[in-house]
Amino acid sequence: STPINCEPLKQLIRTVPDFPKPGILFYDITTLLKDKAGFAQMIDAFAAYYIDKHVDLVLGIEARGFIFGPAMAYRLNAGFVPVRKPKKLPAPVAKVTYDLEYGSDSLEIHLDAIQPGQRVVIVDDLLATGGTMQATVQLVRQLGGEIAGVAFAVELDFLKGRDKFPDVDVYSLLHYN
Ligand code: PRP
Repeated sequence: STPINCEPLKQLIRTVPDFPKPGILFYDITTLLKDKAGFAQMIDAFAAYYIDKHVDLVLGIEARGFIFGPAMAYRLNAGFVPVRKPKKLPAPVAKVTYDLEYGSDSLEIHLDAIQPGQRVVIVDDLLATGGTMQATVQLVRQLGGEIAGVAFAVELDFLKGRDKFPDVDVYSLLHYN
């Protein structure tokens, strides 16, 4: 089936110049999320794309992956797993550290969050350089999970983050050039 066309939803995204730093144009999705039809269409589009892909778990990346992950999991009859910033999860974790422009960051997942062979979709709000998602894909593979796909609300095509995932299905609702 043809994926749902989300392009009209761009009208509901607010652009904020010079946030968080001078020269950066910030795509603010809060104005889209608060629109009940807009939010429903995003979740519908994700659900339509993954419904036949046998998804066992949806992983959301802290913080804005938590906006979409649980709604997707509900619709896909899957479980939800949070991928969190360091020291937030109480039980034993796997941890991955990845490079940023300046410095590094880490993400953690509970060791028992994924059973080997389970099929996982990972979701985040934004695909920029792809570093955050690439690190999360590593975590899933460490735990023996199978990546059914990675999902984003917005993809910044010009940063070519997609190139970091030659062997993973990447699905984004909205693209900016
Ligand atoms: C943003 C965004 C993604 C990531 C994308 O998170 O929510 O998680 O950056 O960038 P990348 O593709 O270059 O890795 P941020 O680092 O602002 O953290 P936050 O969600 O906690 O605000």
